[in-house]
Amino acid sequence: MPERLDAWLARAGFGSRRDAKALVKSGRVAMDGRTQSDPATSVTGKIVVDGEPVEAPPDGIWAILHKPVGYACSHDPAESPLVDELLPEVFRRLGAEFAGRLDRETSGLLVVTTDGALIQRLTHPKRHVTKRYRAAIEGPLAPDTVARFRAGIHLEGDDTPTLPADIDIRAESGSIEVVVRLREGRYHQVRRMVAACGGKVLKLHRDRIGGFDLPDDLAPGGWRHLDEEAIARLLKDAP
Ligand code: URA
Repeated sequence: MPERLDAWLARAGFGSRRDAKALVKSGRVAMDGRTQSDPATSVTGKIVVDGEPVEAPPDGIWAILHKPVGYACSHDPAESPLVDELLPEVFRRLGAEFAGRLDRETSGLLVVTTDGALIQRLTHPKRHVTKRYRAAIEGPLAPDTVARFRAGIHLEGDDTPTLPADIDIRAESGSIEVVVRLREGRYHQVRRMVAACGGKVLKLHRDRIGGFDLPDDLAPGGWRHLDEEAIARLLKDAP
């Protein structure tokens, strides 16, 4: 079914529906070479804004955000600042959700998508997609921490122990630097597993999901669309 011009422009990134309406009314939008001033016009041809052709917007959102510390993965304005505030408005309008939330105090790689099947594949514990975290910890950690992560830890309030996880202890100057790999995503999981082994997470950053690394050139607060090759890398170890 053809879509209204204002809705189409909003999806294409021209601000809110109201912004798109104003844009059309200002006479800056043409379809197949003819200026359109009615926002309710159906999109049936090539759209041009200010003389520049506009690519048809995607039907869905597949994106990553470099989440900075301090932002909540929530849509509740009471919890502001929200990750949503760092993303184009069209993401919310299309119903994009987070594939595996990060705590407010955690930074790093966050997948945002309208693709429910992708969210399921990335987050369901049975799929075993590995998420890698770098953490700075205040110790001391129990001497058997590595073995306990491997065996699974029964965290307070959970019905089952955690799936086998890895912790590599990299450096112990001041804080303890570790790399943790999880195959599931429970509430505050890294923080709770570290606490169960006697430590306290001071800093936590997710830098890899599946075979996909947070790009070095994506600054905190920055986002970008994912192409099919990137999605395949995210899902590298998902059956
Ligand atoms: N584990 C945590 O404790 N917090 C996160 O945000 C992600 C994993």
